[in-house]
Amino acid sequence: MSSLILFFLVSAFPVSFVVADVVSGGERNCSCGFYENVTGNFFTESIIVYFNESTALTGDFIIEQYEHKYEKDWNSIYRHGADISNVQMNNSQYLEILVSQPTKDHLVKGGSIRTIRRDIQYGSFRALLQAPPRGAGGSAVSMITQHNETQTLELSVMNRNSPSDAWIGTFINNEFTSRELGVNFSTAINATSANRNYTVLQGASSNGSINPWEFTEYRIDWTKDYVRFYVGGNLTRSISRKENAGLPSVPAPLYFKHWSTGNQYSMEGPPRQQSGAKLGWARLFFNSSLTTKEERDSFAKDCSLSDACSVDDVSLRGSSAYPERATQKWKQNKKKDLKRMPALWVSVICLSFSSLLLFHTFLRRAPWRHSSISATQKHSAPSKSDETLFNSEAESIKSDNSSNERRSDGPSLGLSQDSSANGPQWQESEDDIPLAKDSAVNSLHAATNQGESSRPPSLLRFDSDATTLRVLSPYASDFNTTMTDLTEEKELRTTVQVQTILEGKEGVCTPPEGHPAVTEAIPPPARDRIDHLAGLVALCAILVTVMHFGLTFVPAMVIPGAPIHYKSEYWAQKIISPFILNQMWLGVFFTTSTRFLVSPYLKSGDLKAIAKGAVRRCPRLMIPITAVALLEYFLIDCGITSYLRYIPSLTWSTWPYVTRFPTIGHFISEILELLYLIPNAVPQITFHFCTGVLWTIAVQLQGSWLVFTGVIVVYEIKTAWKRFLYYAFCIANHWYAESWGSYLWFGLLLADLDITYHYKPWLYKRRAAYYPLMIFCWICVALGFAANVLPSWTHFNFAVYEHNLHPDPSSGLPIGDTPNAGYPVYYVPRFNGLLFAAGLQAIVELSIVIQSILSFRIFLFLFPHIFTIYLLHGIVFWSWGSWLLIVLAERDFSYGISVTIVGMTSYTVIFLILPIATPIIETLGKDITAQVWRNASEKSPPKRRTLFPFPEDLFSSREKEGDVEASVGAEMSTVVVTGEGGVGDV
Ligand SMILES: *[C@@H]1O[C@H](CO)[C@@H](O)[C@H](O)[C@H]1NC(C)=O
Ligand SMILES: *[C@@H]1O[C@H](CO)[C@@H](O)[C@H](O)[C@H]1NC(C)=O
Repeated sequence: MSSLILFFLVSAFPVSFVVADVVSGGERNCSCGFYENVTGNFFTESIIVYFNESTALTGDFIIEQYEHKYEKDWNSIYRHGADISNVQMNNSQYLEILVSQPTKDHLVKGGSIRTIRRDIQYGSFRALLQAPPRGAGGSAVSMITQHNETQTLELSVMNRNSPSDAWIGTFINNEFTSRELGVNFSTAINATSANRNYTVLQGASSNGSINPWEFTEYRIDWTKDYVRFYVGGNLTRSISRKENAGLPSVPAPLYFKHWSTGNQYSMEGPPRQQSGAKLGWARLFFNSSLTTKEERDSFAKDCSLSDACSVDDVSLRGSSAYPERATQKWKQNKKKDLKRMPALWVSVICLSFSSLLLFHTFLRRAPWRHSSISATQKHSAPSKSDETLFNSEAESIKSDNSSNERRSDGPSLGLSQDSSANGPQWQESEDDIPLAKDSAVNSLHAATNQGESSRPPSLLRFDSDATTLRVLSPYASDFNTTMTDLTEEKELRTTVQVQTILEGKEGVCTPPEGHPAVTEAIPPPARDRIDHLAGLVALCAILVTVMHFGLTFVPAMVIPGAPIHYKSEYWAQKIISPFILNQMWLGVFFTTSTRFLVSPYLKSGDLKAIAKGAVRRCPRLMIPITAVALLEYFLIDCGITSYLRYIPSLTWSTWPYVTRFPTIGHFISEILELLYLIPNAVPQITFHFCTGVLWTIAVQLQGSWLVFTGVIVVYEIKTAWKRFLYYAFCIANHWYAESWGSYLWFGLLLADLDITYHYKPWLYKRRAAYYPLMIFCWICVALGFAANVLPSWTHFNFAVYEHNLHPDPSSGLPIGDTPNAGYPVYYVPRFNGLLFAAGLQAIVELSIVIQSILSFRIFLFLFPHIFTIYLLHGIVFWSWGSWLLIVLAERDFSYGISVTIVGMTSYTVIFLILPIATPIIETLGKDITAQVWRNASEKSPPKRRTLFPFPEDLFSSREKEGDVEASVGAEMSTVVVTGEGGVGDV
C-alpha cells in the first residue's frame, strides 16, 4: 500500500505536512476492516494517532484557525475562536490544546483540530483526554462530530470554575447542556470498574478507577441505530434512533477542541489565564460515506470477520488511505419535491388574492377617507341632524376645556394649563350605557355655559359609506386595562352624550325623551383631570420598554455587576438606572389601575358597578393577551426569534430567552394558568412570550378580586377613622405577607380620599396642610430611590434587608433564616416600591406642575397604545433587534454603533406597528368585553322567526308555484323594498 502525502492549508499558511502510514497492526494487515466483538460493530476505516509517538501532528488532522463573530447559544457570553499557536505538541508526550485568557471584547481563543476527512458516517471514536486543570477557570475539552447544528455529537470534559462542579457532558444536536446529560467527575471517580464492558486501553489508570482530572478514555459510538457515550469504559448515555429519530445521520468531520464561551450551564469560565487540556491519543474507527455498494460487496466477498482487526488491539497504528473527495463537505442532495409544487402554487395564488382584497379594503376604508368625509360634511352645508351633531361635539369640547380651567383652582404654581387644551378626549364606551343613562341628566346640566375652544375632530365619525355613525376615540387602549379603568369615570359622562345622539331614532340627534335640553347642550363631561394619569402610565410603559431594551442589549446599564462594554454603562447603572430603570415603576400600574376599578362604585355605591367590573375584567385583559400570545406562538414557530439565541455572545446578557410552545396544549394550559395564577409566582408562559411582562397580568387579575371585595367592605365602614384604620391594617398585613395587595390597597385608599372625602379641594384651600403633605410624598419617592441607589455605593442593600424580614410561606420562619434569604426575585414586591408608587401617585394627583408635565402631548399621544406597547415591544426587540445586531456584527460594526442603530430602528418599528395593532387589540379587548357585559346585563330583544317580517312559507310556497324564477325575482324586490323598514325593528 502506498503512502499518502497531504498538504494542508490553514488560513493560507501551510502548517505542516506529514506522511501518514497505512494502518498496520504490528505485522497485521487491516485491509479487512475493524471489528468490535462486544457490540458487533464493524468499520472499514480508521485514524489512529498516538501523540506520544509523533513530533508533529499527523496528516489526518488539520489545525483550525477562526474567530466566531457570535455564538449560537443562549448562555454564551463569550465568543470563542481557535488559534494555531494554541495547539502544541508537547515533548512527544501528548498534544496540548490551550485556551488563552479572554480579550476585552469577550473573545476567548482556544485551539481546535479536526479530521481532514469529512466523510465519517458512523463510527466508534475513542480518545484519551485530560481535563483542563483544576481551578484554572472553566473551559471544556471536547470531542465533537458536527455537520451542522442539528447534526452534532459532543462529549465535553468541563472543569468549571469550581472543581467540585466539574462534569462530563454528552450532547446530541446542540441540546441544552443540562446536568442530567452528563456525569460529575465525583460520580465518575466513585464509579467502580465492575460494570466495565470492554478493556480499557493503555493510558487509562491501571488500577481500574477513573479520574477525569488525569488521562481518561472517552468514547462515542455512533451507528445507524444508536449513539452511546462512554467515560472510562462505562456507558454513561445511550440514545436509540427509535427514541430520537433526529440522531445525526450525515457524514461529518470529527473535532477535538479546547474552548470556553462562559456558558454558566456548561463549562463556565472563561479561564483568567492560559489553561491547557491534553490529548494522549485518538483511535477513530468509522465507515466512509463514499463507500459504494460494489466496494462493500467485494469487501464482503474477500474478507470474513475473523480477518478483521480488533478495535481493541492496542498495537494498531496509522490511518486508512482516502480519496480527495473525502475531504469535501458533504452536501444534501437538493432534489425538488415535485409533489409539493401544486400545493405551493395554490397557496401562492390564494395569498395573492387575499392580499389584493385586503389592500383594496384598506384603500376603501382607510382612515384618511373618513376624515375627508367628515371634513367635507362639516364644510358643506350639513343636514340638520349633522349640524346638531357637530355642534354638540363642539359643545362637549368646550365643556372639557372650561372644566380644566375650573379645575386648576389649586395652589397656583405659575404654570399654565395650556398643554391640556388640546388633550384628547376620553374614550366613549358603549358598554357604559346603562350606568351612563342614570348620570346623563346631571352631566347634561353641568354642560351649559361653557367657553370657547377647538379640537381635532375625533369623537364622532362616519363609516366610509357615510351612513353609520361611529364612535371613535383617540383613547383606545390601556395598560393592563389600567386605562380603561382610568377612563371609566370619564365614560360615565362622555358616553352619555354620544349615546344620546346615537339613540336618536331616525336620524342622529333627536334627544331622548325626558332630556329636552340635550340638543342645545350636549353633556359637558365635568372633566376630571386625568390626562396626567394617562401621562404617568404612558411614561411608565416607556420606561419599562427601555428597561427591557437594556436587559436585552446593554445589561450593565441595568444589572449591577454585569459585564461592561463601555465605561459609560457603568455610570449609567450607578446614576441613571436606580431612578428610571427599575421595578418601582411597575408599582404605579397597580396603584393607578385600582383607582379606576373602584371609582364607579365609590361614587354610586351601586353594586352593579362591581358586577360590571367583575364581568369585564377578565376578558378585557385575557382576550387581547391570548390573541397576542397566539400571534407570538405563530411567529416564534416561524423562526422570527431565531437570532435571539445568537446575541448573548455580543450583548453579554443571558436575560432574553424564548422558545416555542411544545404543543398547542401547552399554549392553552399556560393561558389558563395565567387566569388562575396566584401571585407571587411567574407564569410558565413567560418562556414562550417575548419578555416576561405577563407576570404582572396575574397580579392585576387576582388583585381585581381583592379590590372589588375590599371596596365593598370599605364602603360600608362609614366612620372615617375606622375606615382609615382598616386601610392601615390591610396595607400592613399585605406588606408583611409580601403581597402586591399593599399596592392595590394604597390605590384604593387614594381613590377613596379623592372620591369620598374630596381631599383635593380641601388641601388646595389649606396650604399649611398641602405643602407638608407634598413634601412628605416627595420624601417617600426619594426614599424609594435611595433604596435603589444605596447598593451602588455602599454595602447596604435595602431590598435584601427587607426581604429577609418577611415570613417564609412554607416554614413560617423569617426568610432571612431560610435558604430563600437574599435578594428578592423580580416579581416580589418591595417596600421601597410601595413608598415610591404611593408617593408618586399622590404627587401626580395633587401637584399641578407634575400634572402639566405629564399632560404633554407626547404622553397623551402614546397613551392609547400602551397596552400594545406593553404586549409587543418584546417581540420587536427580540426579532428585529436581534437579527439586526447579528447582521451588523457580521459586518464588524462596533458594539456601540450597532446598539444605537438597533435601538433607534426597534423603536421606529414599534411605533410603526402601533397604528395597525392598537385597533385590533382594542377591538379584541374592549369591544368584545363590552358585548359580553351588554349580553349579561341587558335583556335580549324578543326572539323572532328567521324570516321575520316575511311570511314563514316564503320559500316553501314558492316551490308550489310553477314559475320559480319569476317569484324569486319578485320576492327579492320585496325584500329590498321592505327590508330597510324591518331592520330597525329587529
Ligand atoms: C474480544 O476480543 C478481545 C481481543 O481480541 C478478547 O480479549 C475478548 O475476549 C473478546 N471478547 C469476546 C466477548 O469475544
Ligand atoms: C443540517 O443538515 C441536515 C442534513 O443536510 C439538514 O437536514 C438540516 O436541516 C441541517 N440543519 C440546519 C440547522 O441547517
